[in-house]
Amino acid sequence: MTVYCLGSINADHVYSVPHLPVPGETIAAHGLTRGLGGKGANQSVAAARAGADVVHIGAVGPDGDWAVARLAGFGIDTAPVAVVEDPTGHAIINVGADGENAIVIYPGANLRQGDARIAAALAQAGPGDTLLLQNETSHQVQAACLAAAQGLRVIYSAAPFDLDAVASVLPHVSLLAVNAIEAAQLDAAFGAARGAEVIVTEGAQGACWRFDGGEVRVPAFPVQAVDTTGAGDCFIGSVAAALDRGLDRAGALRFASAAAALQVTRLGTADAIPSRTEVEAFLGRVQDPAKGA
Ligand code: RIB
Repeated sequence: MTVYCLGSINADHVYSVPHLPVPGETIAAHGLTRGLGGKGANQSVAAARAGADVVHIGAVGPDGDWAVARLAGFGIDTAPVAVVEDPTGHAIINVGADGENAIVIYPGANLRQGDARIAAALAQAGPGDTLLLQNETSHQVQAACLAAAQGLRVIYSAAPFDLDAVASVLPHVSLLAVNAIEAAQLDAAFGAARGAEVIVTEGAQGACWRFDGGEVRVPAFPVQAVDTTGAGDCFIGSVAAALDRGLDRAGALRFASAAAALQVTRLGTADAIPSRTEVEAFLGRVQDPAKGA
């Protein structure tokens, strides 16, 4: 089956800094890398690296050819990526010595999605397929509504978190991904996630999948993180791919946790996402420490 992703495409400018700057402070970065990013692009790359057939729906500016080529290089179908007048989105990412980050995004072309293009991209989609969404593009609700009506699994990664955006899209969502703080805000606002199953990521504590009648938990894999940027994207794209190939909730969470654990040991976003082979080798080492983790 196919994983469709309506998602942001950004040029990531990643600055390695001794610590995240505080208001009014100027600091010098000791490293700079540029690469493909955007929560949507990262999720598409994660799903593709995990072995799924992926179609990316998005938009770039006239300066965005390189980003589309990068997505295509991961085997992603980029036919529904439009070139619009606005510049390609970009992100300024500061990464501190502890691996934590602070990000400013300029959305640019990501806010120029179109109903007709989304409908055309999803025309052949149906039950068994998946739509992945995040909160960095326009047209999330329209896409979710259409996909749900066609019987797709709709996964919404509520990042960057905005309660109003979640409320709008939630009626069409089958699986919602939030962190622990966001889950508490959602519970306070809505009482429950209105029928959607919910994955709550809890950082070093692991992740929990809540569904009607139960929950599944997986612990995080302990690793030395150098850059946590995009770990959530890697996680949810990996979940989508794992479900697509028939893993159950526990198996999908475990696979995605391992993928995210590997990703944070590397600097960067899309380029740091591991392949299915790497993730399965890691899981094998964890299960059998004699092979060396
Ligand atoms: O989640 C990480 C992503 O957030 C980065 O790739 C950046 O582009 C922003 O969208």
